[in-house]
Amino acid sequence: EKDLESRLPLRGKKIMVTAGPTYEAIDPVRFIGNHSSGKMGFDIAESAANLGAEVILISGPTHLKTNNSVINLIRVTSAQEMYNVCHQYFGAIDVAICAAAVADYRPKVAADQKIKKSDAEFSIELEKTKDILASLGQIKQKQFLIGFALETENEIENAKLKIRKKNLDLIVLNSLQDKGAGFATSTNKITFIDKDFVIEPMPLKSKEAVADDIMTKVITHYEKNS
Ligand code: CTP
Ligand code: CA
Repeated sequence: EKDLESRLPLRGKKIMVTAGPTYEAIDPVRFIGNHSSGKMGFDIAESAANLGAEVILISGPTHLKTNNSVINLIRVTSAQEMYNVCHQYFGAIDVAICAAAVADYRPKVAADQKIKKSDAEFSIELEKTKDILASLGQIKQKQFLIGFALETENEIENAKLKIRKKNLDLIVLNSLQDKGAGFATSTNKITFIDKDFVIEPMPLKSKEAVADDIMTKVITHYEKNS
């Protein structure tokens, strides 16, 4: 028993992870999206599963796959779909980690038919999507809630604002300043900031190693609160 607990410290915990981009339809053949590969979220899901957690991975469009049987992968397309699935599961989970690069805006109307070109200028009216992470922060009870922040200026200050605004327990600040950190790479340069604003910068690491560091934070949280 004791041995299992040290090898699988997250046994009995349910962890929900969001990953990847979202696609917001313009018409049946076009969308607004971003370059998120989904790798960070998939690596977090893998790390959590290896530590004994039951994992629900909610991912936007990506070519990534998982063959880990304790990861329940639910594929979605749009921000609204991701929102719906997250809210379907949130009441029953212990930890939520929002690593998805959710679109902030979507076309106000998606055209039924392919939009034909004309000689005139063309523009698309956009409306805000729902902030999934903030909506979970509003209703959270015992759940440990982790968000990401991607900033290019006033990083720490902006990340602290996101912690308060979204009622987070921990934020993973993603730095784009260093070469080799970010979207299309296999490495990340992150800084942890917790809800008491304790700041912990981490060295540049592989996304697998960053995922393990995030899970260490989760394990520490449950050690402190048991
Ligand atoms: N997020 C979300 N739903 C959205 C937008 C963002 O769940 N509609 C989550 C992301 O998954 C991430 C965190 O919010 O964990 C921060 O995302 P980020 O894009 O850095 O911040 P925003 O709040 O969207 O603000 P901005 O893009 O203006 O910096
Ligand atoms: Ca955003």
